[in-house]
Amino acid sequence: MADTISREEALSLLMKYNKEAFHIRHALTVEGVMKWYAGELGFGDEAEHWGIVGLLHDIDFEMYPEEHCQKAPELLQNGGVGEDIIHSVCSHGYGICSDVEPTHLMEKVLFAADELTGLIWAAALMRPSKSVMDMEVSSVKKKFKDKRFAQGCSRDIIKQGAEMLGWELPELFEKTILAMRSCEESVTDEMKALGLE
Ligand SMILES: [Fe+2]
Repeated sequence: MADTISREEALSLLMKYNKEAFHIRHALTVEGVMKWYAGELGFGDEAEHWGIVGLLHDIDFEMYPEEHCQKAPELLQNGGVGEDIIHSVCSHGYGICSDVEPTHLMEKVLFAADELTGLIWAAALMRPSKSVMDMEVSSVKKKFKDKRFAQGCSRDIIKQGAEMLGWELPELFEKTILAMRSCEESVTDEMKALGLE
């Protein structure tokens, strides 16, 4: 699959519209998670493409939270991003802020893992280690059930994502923890290199 944008260009585009460390760390994490899933699901040769979609998926959220997924196509088109990536980015808000349905497996993974990545990272920050390296599925299950914890992370979206993929929740939890472990160190290194941590 040919990309119309390199990873380097995608990062500059992300940083043009995102300044807060929290948002940039989330983008880098979802990039790493998507790359891990590409390899896991037999799309290793498309890993960079899956990663770029992850990196750009929330591009409009920091500056245009009220127009999330609506403003993204314009920002991405102006940045030279192709229609396939724009479709994938918009599909992660399906039923919430967009009517673009996730069709490709990669889009379903993004839909399911984006929200869950937020929940797992919020849980990691509560731990002494501030890390997912020592986090188990059981603690994610507990946090998932605790309605008062990370209320901004919709449990319904995570459930809907698991259904789209045909996976049970524990499978989605386990894979996403492994995906986040695979990139935690490199994300931290890049945040430092960007002067954000
Ligand atoms: Fe996100």
